[in-house]
Amino acid sequence: MTVEEIRSTVADFAAAARKAVDAGFAGVEVHAANGYLLHQFLAEGTNHRTDAYGGSVAHRIRFVVEVVQAVADEVGPDRVGVRLAPGLTVNGIEEGDTEDICPALVTALNDIGSAYLHIVFADPAQPLFQDIRKAWPRTLIANPVLGWGSPLPADGGRHAAERLLAAGADLISPGRPFLANPDLVERLRTGAPVNPVREEGLMYTGAARTAAPTTRTSRASRRPWPRRVRTDRL
Ligand SMILES: Cc1cc2nc3c(=O)[nH]c(=O)nc-3n(C[C@H](O)[C@H](O)[C@H](O)COP(=O)(O)O)c2cc1C
Repeated sequence: MTVEEIRSTVADFAAAARKAVDAGFAGVEVHAANGYLLHQFLAEGTNHRTDAYGGSVAHRIRFVVEVVQAVADEVGPDRVGVRLAPGLTVNGIEEGDTEDICPALVTALNDIGSAYLHIVFADPAQPLFQDIRKAWPRTLIANPVLGWGSPLPADGGRHAAERLLAAGADLISPGRPFLANPDLVERLRTGAPVNPVREEGLMYTGAARTAAPTTRTSRASRRPWPRRVRTDRL
């Protein structure tokens, strides 16, 4: 990307946030995780620039900080969250110096005053988790990452969530457990069994599928997913 393209992309983020808020959304989440464009600027493995947007930590966080600042200027910092995936290698990303760049970025985002930080982070025993917690005084949301391509734990991720909460996360954002269990909160609250994730077609591919059963779909919900449900009665 040229510097001109970077500037116009920063403006695009702000314009998109304005449209979302005008359309009635309470806020927007800037996505700087999981190997997408902003994450690619953070990572040494993908950012080979030699200008003000590449090289040092201060340079590599610049694009993300400019985007979040522009969005916050447009809709207010209290309407902006940011998603990061510190150290995650999904989609071929290699940050290289996560322990340096992550706290620097979190500190810069905190200066902007955005509403919350949302991290894709599995292991709260890693010292980096506490570094993030110390650098981020406001709401910290953690996505536990229960294992790509492997079955969900039988407890639906409850233990993983509780570890993150005990380590200082404020909220938990389960992903795949919700896809398989639309009533996940109720299941976790009552200790009801969780449906397994159906990996086939998970990434929106393959044949049409039936809705995931909820605890309200009676006896049949005790059978593991996948199964046939009367969608006309859901
Ligand atoms: C079907 C599907 C689509 C996803 N789409 C995105 C996406 O567009 N952007 C993203 O950052 N993560 C995406 N993810 C990753 C999830 O946000 C989450 O980080 C990941 O599934 C790990 O959390 P989990 O174990 O609770 O599911 C997706 C995951 C699944 C299963």
